[in-house]
Amino acid sequence: MSFAFGIGIGTQNKQGEWLEVFYQQPVITPDDGLIEVARNVLEYQGGNHAVPATSDQLKALSDGLRQLGQMEQSTLAGKAADSRRPVVVTLLETDETAASTAEVYLKLHLISSRQARPHELKLDGIFGLLPNLAWTSEGAVDLNELPDRQLKARIEGRTLEVKSVDKFPQMTDYVVPKGVRIADTARVRLGAYVGEGTTVMHEGFINFNAGTEGTSMIEGRISAGVMIGKGSDLGGGCSTMGTLSGGGNIIISVGENCLIGANAGIGIPLGDRCKVEAGLYITAGTKVALLDDNNKLVEVIKARDLANKPDLLFRRNSQTGAVECKTNKTAIELNDELHANN
Ligand SMILES: CC(C)(COP(=O)(O)OP(=O)(O)OC[C@H]1O[C@@H](n2cnc3c(N)ncnc32)[C@H](O)[C@@H]1OP(=O)(O)O)[C@@H](O)C(=O)NCCC(=O)NCCS
Repeated sequence: MSFAFGIGIGTQNKQGEWLEVFYQQPVITPDDGLIEVARNVLEYQGGNHAVPATSDQLKALSDGLRQLGQMEQSTLAGKAADSRRPVVVTLLETDETAASTAEVYLKLHLISSRQARPHELKLDGIFGLLPNLAWTSEGAVDLNELPDRQLKARIEGRTLEVKSVDKFPQMTDYVVPKGVRIADTARVRLGAYVGEGTTVMHEGFINFNAGTEGTSMIEGRISAGVMIGKGSDLGGGCSTMGTLSGGGNIIISVGENCLIGANAGIGIPLGDRCKVEAGLYITAGTKVALLDDNNKLVEVIKARDLANKPDLLFRRNSQTGAVECKTNKTAIELNDELHANN
């Protein structure tokens, strides 16, 4: 059984190097028949390959897939045969460290189309395979070619808008998963996993290999690798600590039905039904005073010892400045209207 398959239409620079690839119908664990057809048409011998495909090969692939009853993939191959942009068929037998830009894009599509969850795929080394590009109103442009493209556009009476300069494109130019609202599409990168019922407001951000399980209101930052449980909300401007730079090696996550207050932040994984007071940043080493129901001190421990524990309320005592933790008695009542997406 193979790991993944995708027929992609992409962009190359003048050197013929791939800049990006769009897979309209990426497939995880494709059935053997599909791989067999590709094997015959593309002379694919197994392993992990991104094979540039000619128009004739795509027509043959389309015919073979139709005979197999793979109608959607067949239609896609047929349409790709007429593409004015280069086409690649990416066949991954196993989930190994990616060796090409086309492979990385296929993996990012699998996550954003919810076929694979964050942390499930091998994504080491992807930065080196993702070129830093100008994402423009005319698609991806190699930065070395940008000045000429800008001039050409001006001479032809157009303006080339550069929407971002980055290694990752915005997710919605590739995948729009079902049942989501995203107020500012630039704030969700390809490779994000946006669960059904999630609303990402303008202030919210979701990095690749990170996301939400389901119903959530996201007005803060979900850093790479961070997963937010069902029914949990991130308040305006709050932050979840990533592990990519200086954040230590604890993988941060948020359990179900939590609230991280506005401008708050977490450097520990939270269990279910936890709340963090607006403005309070809890790092792993923060000393926390555990209080009983009568606000009496039980003990002082480090926040990392409370990792993944449920039903906690974190606050900074407004009189003493000490960080305190109590039992969260008011489990968050989900505001149905706030969470309604569809
Ligand atoms: C921490 C938080 C959850 C506490 O709210 P709460 O559970 O409703 O608690 P209350 O405000 O009713 O306060 C309960 C008691 O604790 C006290 N208290 C609350 N915060 C305190 C603090 N930081 N220091 C000392 N005492 C505090 C209150 O004065 C009150 O005391 P009392 O029992 O003597 O009347 C709330 O302040 C908060 O920050 N919510 C986040 C909201 C948010 O940011 N949403 C996202 C919007 S984008």
